[in-house]
Amino acid sequence: MARPDIAWLPGDGIGGEVLEAARLVLDSSGFEASYIPGDIGWEFWRKEGTPLPDRTIELLRSTDCALLGAVTSKPNADAIRELPERFRAKGVRYSGAVLRIRRMFDLYTCLRPCRAYPGNPGNRTEGIDITIFRENTEGMYSGAEWDKIPQELYNIRGMERVPRQAAITVRAVTRKASIRIAKAAFAHALEAPRAEVAPKPPTAVNGGAKHRVTAVHKANIMRATDGVFLAATREVAQGYPEVEYEEMLVDACAMQLVRDPLRFDIIVTTNLFGDILSDLCAQLVGGMGFAPSANLGDDYAMFEPSHGSAPDIAGQGIANPVAAVLSAGMMLEWLGEKDRADRVERAVAEVVREGRVRTPDMGGPDGTMAMATAIAVKLKQGT
Ligand code: IPM
Ligand code: MG
Repeated sequence: MARPDIAWLPGDGIGGEVLEAARLVLDSSGFEASYIPGDIGWEFWRKEGTPLPDRTIELLRSTDCALLGAVTSKPNADAIRELPERFRAKGVRYSGAVLRIRRMFDLYTCLRPCRAYPGNPGNRTEGIDITIFRENTEGMYSGAEWDKIPQELYNIRGMERVPRQAAITVRAVTRKASIRIAKAAFAHALEAPRAEVAPKPPTAVNGGAKHRVTAVHKANIMRATDGVFLAATREVAQGYPEVEYEEMLVDACAMQLVRDPLRFDIIVTTNLFGDILSDLCAQLVGGMGFAPSANLGDDYAMFEPSHGSAPDIAGQGIANPVAAVLSAGMMLEWLGEKDRADRVERAVAEVVREGRVRTPDMGGPDGTMAMATAIAVKLKQGT
């Protein structure tokens, strides 16, 4: 792409700081783009009654992809409390900005690599290299929820098991969405080389297969929804005999990830399990400061660090920008700039390995921009 248009969405909390850091790195890589700033986040919920104004949606429609810093999201009661009376009177309800974008643009793949960069003091063990493919449009994030069960639902057989006063959320799993996330995971398994920056020990994947995909589910309890999901992953797996395939219950998976993270390679799972496991995996490789993510659709993509807006440290210039920098790197790759993306990741790996610059989450004294500058310098030196 010649000179892409990128929607630049700092959001709130530490979002602006980490994006400024990412921008320094992007510029130092020699990458040229038009960055068009957009309004998103809590401030706009409070001022305009929506965290995602229509003009921002238009901006997304008119750009090639988006880079997001972070947005605050709070439970309903807190959100309503902070809303001005004039919106409350209109019955405005909070609907998370990130979730709306994921759904609106059908960004069905949430790709979350978790790599232990050698020498990172937060690594649980060296050599961890796990890639999570999280279904990003449905599951427990269907948005179909009731504080109190509507009468009509009570007439459906099976509902007598649910207490009358219960609040309910619909877990929606389709074959279509399950097939496409599984295909994304297996296609990645075929293409992805073993990461150079965090080589896996040769024992990590058994059976001689280059990659292993683990489908994570709870089909012994959520028989209908995860039944659909597993049927889809099995079907897709058949088309990839060269990739090792296994299935694991989500609770066992959480335990195994802590016990023996090196046995994992690619995880494919439904939305909420992916959300939870990606935080767990982030912590295995140094915490949320090392957790980038890509929300990918067929026509559009949004890149964002997996962390939240961290209001407790916002404005202090101490947030670790690596997750944002790596997210920007994933954006470069998606835009067809694979070499540049690799250079960014190598620069990050090199700065981490040297250990001269470390943000507080890594046990060091350095700030956001010091880290970004160190990465930018390495990048220019062409490591
Ligand atoms: C994430 C976040 C989001 C999610 C929140 C902010 C809506 O936790 O990207 O992992 O739950 O997907
Ligand atoms: Mg999350």
